[in-house]
Amino acid sequence: MVTIILRQLAAIAILGCLVQQVRAQPVDAPKQAREIAAKVCSSCHGAGGNGGDPMFPKLAAQPSLYLENQLTAFRSHERAEPDAQHYMWGPANRSMDEQLIGAMAKYYSEQPPPKGVSGNGDLIAKGRKLYQEGSAPRGIPACASCHGVTAAGQGLFPRLAGQHRQYLLKQLQLIQKAVRSAPVMHGVIEHLDKEDMEALATYLQSQD
Ligand code: HEC
Ligand code: HEC
Repeated sequence: MVTIILRQLAAIAILGCLVQQVRAQPVDAPKQAREIAAKVCSSCHGAGGNGGDPMFPKLAAQPSLYLENQLTAFRSHERAEPDAQHYMWGPANRSMDEQLIGAMAKYYSEQPPPKGVSGNGDLIAKGRKLYQEGSAPRGIPACASCHGVTAAGQGLFPRLAGQHRQYLLKQLQLIQKAVRSAPVMHGVIEHLDKEDMEALATYLQSQD
């Protein structure tokens, strides 16, 4: 915990300096985004947003618009689940203007997608079926209808393929309880139980 807090404080201090330095010169937002990604964000999200620690979501190959929306929601404190507050309200602070948010989002959207990590075969089969087909009798729409058949996401729909299982599970639980506000998703996942979530997260982590 202490190391994470230190990482976070260091990240915010470095971000402040980098934004200041660049303000003194004509702004090259893509270059600034690359520098911030390497010196600040990578301490938690890994190089290119493809880190191995399941505490920190993968950002690589996320659609640019989705990333922009999330950074804006952290900055305005609209995305307010406990880990968003603890970890992301600092880095996505007011020194991150629209132009920099756009450039950070573009940078991560262009990184190579994460490789899938295999898991329990029965859970993967169950997760695949629910993801691709939903369940009409249980009132669960197919996830693929928004997140795409390959779960690569598009526009405001996030990529789910190759994401850490633990992060996906946490988000499904938080969104279902409306601790994280995601209006489109609340109705969609209302009827998922814990086993469904386990299966979906295991399936999605296994995809690339
Ligand atoms: C101290 C660790 C830490 C640092 C530094 C950090 N993040 Fe995060 N980030 C997190 C955690 C933890 C989450 C997940 C929050 C949650 O579960 O709500 C997250 C979530 C995100 C998300 C949402 C991903 C999704 O799939 O919804 C984005 C986008 C993001 N971070 C971008 C960045 C960028 C860009 C930077 C650098 C400016 C950065 N982060 C720096 C820890 C960090
Ligand atoms: C009607 C469209 C729609 C359907 C169907 C849908 N989703 Fe989503 N989902 C979204 C949108 C939009 C978001 C982004 C919310 C935001 O911006 O915070 C999202 C976000 C998510 C997230 C958070 C990802 C992250 O990186 O933090 C997860 C996990 C997720 N959806 C899983 C699912 C699963 C599993 C299903 C099927 C049971 C599903 N979704 C069906 C629209 C949909």
